Amino acid sequence: MKPNCLVHYPLLVDHPKMCPLNCYFCRPVSKQMDTYILGIESSCDDTSAAVLKNTHILSNEIANQRVHQSFGGVVPELASRAHQQNIIPVVDIALRKAKVTKNQLDAIAFTRGPGLLGSLLVGTSFAKSFALGLGIPMVEVDHLKAHILSHFIDDETGLDHPQFPFLCLTVSGGHTQIVKVESASSMEIIGTTIDDAAGEAFDKAAKIMGLPYPGGPEIDKLAKLGDPDKFQFPEPKIEGLNYSFSGLKTSFLYFLRDRLREDENFIEQNINDLSASIQSTIISILLKKLKRASRETGIKEIAIAGGVSANSGLRKAVIETATKERWKTHIPKLQYSTDNAAMIAIAGYFKFLEGDFATQDLTPYSKSKFSNFK
Ligand code: KG4
Ligand code: ZN
Repeated sequence: MKPNCLVHYPLLVDHPKMCPLNCYFCRPVSKQMDTYILGIESSCDDTSAAVLKNTHILSNEIANQRVHQSFGGVVPELASRAHQQNIIPVVDIALRKAKVTKNQLDAIAFTRGPGLLGSLLVGTSFAKSFALGLGIPMVEVDHLKAHILSHFIDDETGLDHPQFPFLCLTVSGGHTQIVKVESASSMEIIGTTIDDAAGEAFDKAAKIMGLPYPGGPEIDKLAKLGDPDKFQFPEPKIEGLNYSFSGLKTSFLYFLRDRLREDENFIEQNINDLSASIQSTIISILLKKLKRASRETGIKEIAIAGGVSANSGLRKAVIETATKERWKTHIPKLQYSTDNAAMIAIAGYFKFLEGDFATQDLTPYSKSKFSNFK
């Protein structure tokens, strides 16, 4: 029998199931034992590390990178450098806060993609060397799947987990998807954006209005003071369950260009109403397809995930729609909506239980690898 263990045979990449030394990789995983997972997230501009004991969160540390603010968006090269500086202190703090030593860890879960390649390389290389040094397995995690599985993180406040199958509207800076989730390992994308993501629509609208990056939270704040019906913007007519947001951005841009010709202070004087109106249009587009997906699939267990799920207007609208459509909804806590390593750790935990380990030869991917997640 050929060994598969990277501890005893570090250079072997093609491994069958068992090794004769009964090393860590070859022992059957017991669901009865407590499992400590370190999660690492470095796909964009947040360096994050989290420790889970089974599904229970012990720590979730995030170092935000302020270096991008003056550029109006994430500068990939600067993001990689900041990850390189942040990753060891962030992991160190996460372990200390969790009161877990590195020798207690059972596995390292890390984001393999999608995201910025240089940023992903930092997290991936760190995970590889840490796992190799500790002699424990590593688990590769897809960032989008992790957003969905963040609903299974347990903390002291208690969470009502979604029941399978459920639909998840994943709305992040780069993706907008309706995903049918059959289990932690079987997911199917039934709707996706054909151009911009909802997060991009928020960020681009904010940029047009001269608001700082990231624009989503800025619009959210201002929208609370504005009238969502003051300005009307056209919604796209896209077949099926897919989305499109690039037309909305263009019509917003042209609308403002025309108004600014008449009044150069138009944005300043209407910033709250503009924010409320663009936000309510984005939410209306998102919810129409989500309602349709629920009706078509007959699934009424509905979750939202990803950075845009932090939006207070979207959260409110989903709750209101739930009453009308008889949905049972799952809205993530704010700390698990935007990028975090706890979601990477929980997704890694489920793969760990299946013995689904990553090999030392893998490389990150910048674009989502899957047309669906199956
Ligand atoms: O999931 P995420 O943190 O990172 C990616 O995976 O992309 O999502 C980031 C996106 C950004 O577009 C940001 O503007 C948006 O989430 N976002 C929000 C809010 N908080 C973050 N959009 C609207 N309202 C918010 N409160
Ligand atoms: Zn994300």
